[in-house]
Amino acid sequence: MLCPARWLLSLAAAAVLAAGAPARADDGGQMYGKKCLACHGLDGAGDKPLGRKSGAPDLRRSGLSQDEIEAVIAQGRGKMMGYKDRLTAEQISAIAGYVKGSLVRPPAPK
Ligand code: HEC
Repeated sequence: MLCPARWLLSLAAAAVLAAGAPARADDGGQMYGKKCLACHGLDGAGDKPLGRKSGAPDLRRSGLSQDEIEAVIAQGRGKMMGYKDRLTAEQISAIAGYVKGSLVRPPAPK
């Protein structure tokens, strides 16, 4: 049987560990700047040398949902490596939120 005290203890330990790298929604942009900028560029255009070389798409035109963006970040795709071993689910979600909320533009009016 699961001992509740132990469970609480491990929960507290996890909280302490997580506190080392807190992930808030507004950290998404900062993490994007550290992890994604080299290929996708500050505005998501993907026109950095490394982005051109690897064929990074223009994130501003991405039609992906928040969930789909999280999946791409976690699993990687094509020449983009996955980040699931390097980032927590919260961090991935914060970055995806930043991409979706601040970089993706609605399609231009026709
Ligand atoms: C090494 C360069 C590189 C880095 C670093 C990188 N990407 Fe990518 N990214 C790519 C490439 C290349 C693709 C296209 C993959 C394919 O479809 O073949 C891509 C695709 C994507 C897509 C899918 C866009 C769409 O509409 O299909 C998203 C979203 C994305 N990247 C977000 C990120 C985020 C967020 C980060 C940082 C955590 C990141 N990328 C880091 C190169 C990179």
